[in-house]
Amino acid sequence: MKTIRLSINYEIYSSPEEMSKEDRELLEASKEAQKTSYAPYSKYNVGAAIRLDNGLIIKGSNQENAASPDGLCAERTAMFAASANYPDSAMVSMAISGGNGFSTDDLPCTPCGSCRQVMAEYQGKSGVPMSIIMAGKKEIWKFKKVEDILPFIFNGLEIK
Ligand code: THU
Repeated sequence: MKTIRLSINYEIYSSPEEMSKEDRELLEASKEAQKTSYAPYSKYNVGAAIRLDNGLIIKGSNQENAASPDGLCAERTAMFAASANYPDSAMVSMAISGGNGFSTDDLPCTPCGSCRQVMAEYQGKSGVPMSIIMAGKKEIWKFKKVEDILPFIFNGLEIK
């Protein structure tokens, strides 16, 4: 028997000014997307912006429903829009901004497990690492690939 310790690296920025121009632009787009969030039930508003390998930015926000399971998170709304409209483009980066009542919480809004699994799907499909930027008021976190937030990914594309 052996015990293995996993470690992940991620970057912490204390302000958008410390980030690259591309990342800053994506972060800004996720904040714009947050404004379109429809979350009358939770009042937790989230926006996501995805940069495609063709340079386009696709936005999404959480959309809730009175029959609660029928709603969808911002990240999946954005990924499904990106894949439906640009099926052959890799999603190279995603920024997420979220918080209570259209504000940004101090620490980043981190994606749920289902959204991480969907990120894994599209990263696996394209073969291009998808970086994930999570915005908080006090800290912005950047992960270089989906494995860093979802170790031991189930890769359905391996099913024979
Ligand atoms: N939500 C997102 O859109 N993304 C996240 O990363 C976390 C949660 C949404 C789902 C629901 O509309 C609301 O936030 C509260 O869970």
